[in-house]
Amino acid sequence: MNLADIRSKFLQFYKARGHAIVPSASLVPENDPTTLFVGSGMQPLVPYLLGETHPEGARVADAQKSFRLEDVDDVGDNRHTTFFEMLGNWSFGDYWKEDQLAWIFEFLTAKGRGPEIDPRRLYVTIFSGGDGIARDDESVAAWRKIFSASGIPAEYAEMGAEEEGSARGMRADERIFGYGAAKNWWSRSGTPSRMPAGEPGGPDSEIFYDFGTPHDTKFGAHCHPNCDCGRFLEIGNSVFMAFRKEGKGFSDLPRRNVDFGGGLERIAAASENEPDIFRISAFRGARAALEHASGKSYEGNERAFRVVMDHVRAAVFLAADGVAPANKGRGYVLRRLIRRAVRFGDALGMARDGELSAVARAFIGEYKEAPPLGYLLEEHAGRILASLAEEEKKFRKTLREGLKELEKMIGSAEAGGPREVDPARAFFVYQTYGFPLELIQEELAKRARSVDVRKFEEEARKHQELSRTASAGMFKGGLADASQKTTRLHTAHHLLLKALQAVLGPQVKQRGSNITQERLRMDFSYEGKMTEKEQREAERIVNEKIAEDLPVIRSEMPRGEAEGLGAEREFGQKYPERVSVYSIGPKGATPADPRFAEAFSIEFCGGPHVSRTGEIGRFRIIKEEAVGAGIRRIRGVIE
Ligand code: ALA
Repeated sequence: MNLADIRSKFLQFYKARGHAIVPSASLVPENDPTTLFVGSGMQPLVPYLLGETHPEGARVADAQKSFRLEDVDDVGDNRHTTFFEMLGNWSFGDYWKEDQLAWIFEFLTAKGRGPEIDPRRLYVTIFSGGDGIARDDESVAAWRKIFSASGIPAEYAEMGAEEEGSARGMRADERIFGYGAAKNWWSRSGTPSRMPAGEPGGPDSEIFYDFGTPHDTKFGAHCHPNCDCGRFLEIGNSVFMAFRKEGKGFSDLPRRNVDFGGGLERIAAASENEPDIFRISAFRGARAALEHASGKSYEGNERAFRVVMDHVRAAVFLAADGVAPANKGRGYVLRRLIRRAVRFGDALGMARDGELSAVARAFIGEYKEAPPLGYLLEEHAGRILASLAEEEKKFRKTLREGLKELEKMIGSAEAGGPREVDPARAFFVYQTYGFPLELIQEELAKRARSVDVRKFEEEARKHQELSRTASAGMFKGGLADASQKTTRLHTAHHLLLKALQAVLGPQVKQRGSNITQERLRMDFSYEGKMTEKEQREAERIVNEKIAEDLPVIRSEMPRGEAEGLGAEREFGQKYPERVSVYSIGPKGATPADPRFAEAFSIEFCGGPHVSRTGEIGRFRIIKEEAVGAGIRRIRGVIE
């Protein structure tokens, strides 16, 4: 069964059981500073899981676009993708385990309801207890009842840790397997000990499809549902979200919630008994386009094909939600995806500009029939394809220039020039051309025997450390240089964010920034367009604060303290334990007595800034436009 059919049947099924069907949220999270992308169906619903009342009621279902960067290195096997759709249903304090498990089993297996998966192929897991939470015996009982109604023997087997599963193996009459927190506890940050205070989570019960393929002992002595050999595929997960992390322990959430997520592509693969999800129909057009462009066939080149298909599909959906290739944040993730796709595509022999776009076009065509995702792709097709094509072209140019430069270096080393390729010079190629580090490493290792690859790697590591520190907020991201003009614009940027919040509301958050000598640019979350009047008002506030000649003060403090002050932070940024914070105002504040409570602005920031706002000059907004769903971009100059 194809994705569109399963998706619509799922929504129908839950609608018939009293659920409000809500549309997929954007891949770019709103009002959630903890992650760059939406990676599960529950993420846009966190406030309701924590206890707020959902406007549509206590039962909700959807098909949510999701992107998991953390899985990027697993892409290439037969089951992992970075982008996927998650079918989800939720009970906010309404139905509980018995209904949840019975319904999802019915949807997956019953004739005429959904994908009609053979129930004898399904195996389930439950939480075997730990971290002060008891074994989930209620789920064991519910599953026993469900399986026995289908005439399937369903004994319980306690596996504990995953390795124990491998040591023990499975008996023919066993269907329900208990694992510890590593496998059967769900929160966005993983096991109980990794959850930050305030995060909701709970024990879960996963459903696996058995392809019946032979076990590969590379993955352990015996097979079991959580074995990675490829026989079992997880297709759905019911989280019984009843707890909220508090310090070391848990408190009960105001209501017990059900949070179900099922991988749509995986369910489709199970419905076709196809262990390779890249063979389901959603990938058919893209695979053909890639075969055409490369002259190679999928068989025998699976890994490269899968990487290209996955990354291009993800890039298409990210671009549709307003992400544009850039050097940091979400834009950097998109850039990496496209560049990786180019490299894997080129390894297949498709070295011409525009070939990735053919694959992208196939996906846009494939999703056309599926509202509303397909509409969004169609509507933005021109922009998506242009953005991909431009990035592909730029990167190919970089590759050519960087390779030429490296060749020169290697050539001179071999022709009796300096005996070794100077790691610092090789590194220069990386910095100047943005040539991928790992490519330089490969080239050096392959071609210049005399080169000290180790030194180069050391240099590279140092650089990576540095850029990690930079993105950790030590230096304000997006700042092009530290000239006087950019410094003045930078301080104006802080004032502008506060002015926007004053005019449009405190929900306005910074989503990206870029400052050059000529202008500042800020992306911020806001639904709707700023009126001319609102722009003038924001401008007026900034100029008023400039006229007040307020002191700009840098302070260092533990991250938690800065958070406590309500310091503005950029979405998706991870900050170190100790942070630098800039506050502006009030009059008379000094580094020794920064008077945070009366400050006009406080931001996580590494600077640099002017020391008084009077140094900025006159500020003017020159442009305000949309860059994506719910994201505006504003440009300003100083005169
Ligand atoms: N939120 C759960 C998951 O992502 C359903 O697995």
